[in-house]
Amino acid sequence: MDALVVTGGRRLTGEVKASGAKNAALPIMAASILADEPLVLKGVPDLADIRTMGRLLGKLGVSVERKRGGTMVLASPSRSKRNRAPYEIMRTMRAGICVLGPLLARRGKAEVSLPGGCAIGDRPVDLHLKGLRALGARLEVEHGYIVGSCRRLRGGEMYLGGPFGSSVTGTANILMASVLADGTTVIDCAACEPEVQDLARVLEKMGARIAGIGSPRLVVEGVDRLGGCEHTVIPDRIEAGTFLVAGAATHGDVTVDGARWDDLFALVNTLREVGADVERQDGTIRISARHRLRSIDVTTLPFPGFPTDLQAQMMAALTTADGISVVTEKIFPDRFMHVAELGRMGARIRKQANAAVVHGTEHLSGAPVMASDLRASAALVIAALAARGTTTISRLYHLDRGYEHLEKKLRRLGAKVRRVNIKG
Ligand code: EPZ
Repeated sequence: MDALVVTGGRRLTGEVKASGAKNAALPIMAASILADEPLVLKGVPDLADIRTMGRLLGKLGVSVERKRGGTMVLASPSRSKRNRAPYEIMRTMRAGICVLGPLLARRGKAEVSLPGGCAIGDRPVDLHLKGLRALGARLEVEHGYIVGSCRRLRGGEMYLGGPFGSSVTGTANILMASVLADGTTVIDCAACEPEVQDLARVLEKMGARIAGIGSPRLVVEGVDRLGGCEHTVIPDRIEAGTFLVAGAATHGDVTVDGARWDDLFALVNTLREVGADVERQDGTIRISARHRLRSIDVTTLPFPGFPTDLQAQMMAALTTADGISVVTEKIFPDRFMHVAELGRMGARIRKQANAAVVHGTEHLSGAPVMASDLRASAALVIAALAARGTTTISRLYHLDRGYEHLEKKLRRLGAKVRRVNIKG
């Protein structure tokens, strides 16, 4: 099993480039099922989840060709009967659910395993099903699979608000289904996340007619067919944000190339409030933090609110801030797996329902810790970079799902990190 050994206490300085966004690339790859012609994607990160989605699409008859430099060519046969997304793949990656809408829209049949459990809490799919049913799909859950069929989907109206806001992959799924439906679809309370916007832009390039991109109300005029297109995936705002928080936590001076200001404004605002200087310069964001950070209250919300995918990293930075911070999670109320591990490094955090009260301490100390999910792992890396001494983070496969060339990028910023293989 791979582990990351981090010797902390060094200021991160220098420039790093954000990779293409995993959570944009995954649904866009699924959109290849909809097209009559190949989809050429650029800036696709080389990550475990991307490879898993490639395998899943392969099972569905899509040819997936990875070329050099992050380019991927996907081509779906027009009449394939391979409509089963098996549990063996789906249990490892939730984004696999994004093939459901395209399969129904283009092939009229789908058998998609319910995605696997996840360490960040309950992750139902009721909103996906509600939206697809509103388009006329017949859907049942049988033996752990969503079994669906339809003739041509027809436009419909739906409200996608759930108890914790909209659904990102739910919006993606329904949007992909609606573009080939007969008539007009209105998706109200649609997710506005940049990754959903990027998917909508790809669909437009393929010939879809979508109004309201980036707003909570998407209006789609269905078309009869979609063609291929070429598209460069947006930079990963969560990866970029992770480097910015790491810069703040180590009192460093870090410039992230490709970090999009508008996609990260909630984080920029938070980092400024804790005392860091954050500036925008020609497609980059630079953070410099000279002094101990101040405490702050952070609440996660759907975009453009503070992203849940940066909550753990921000909490890691706040463990050494001056004062008491309250971090409230409003998207995944149980997403606090990092709290106990940060505690092993000397952080003083008390969890209360969907919030964590963080008492800033002067410094953390390196310790052996275990990653539990992707962003919790990133939080441990940040804590380790800021801590005194050496931290060993095991179960590195979580990080490999979402951060391309992480050690290389951190080393470029002056961090002392190495990957080792340990038993267990
Ligand atoms: C996406 O997950 C991301 N994954 C997650 O990133 C991210 O944390 C999440 O959106 C929120 O931003 C991908 O894009 C592949 P949701 P998704 O459906 O779409 C509830 C990472 O670290 N809900 O928007 O699965 C749900 O329980 C990952 O990269 C329902 O109630 O999340 C949650 O409370 C982890 N019913 C809230 O909505 C549903 O049918 C938001 O979930 C669906 C969701």
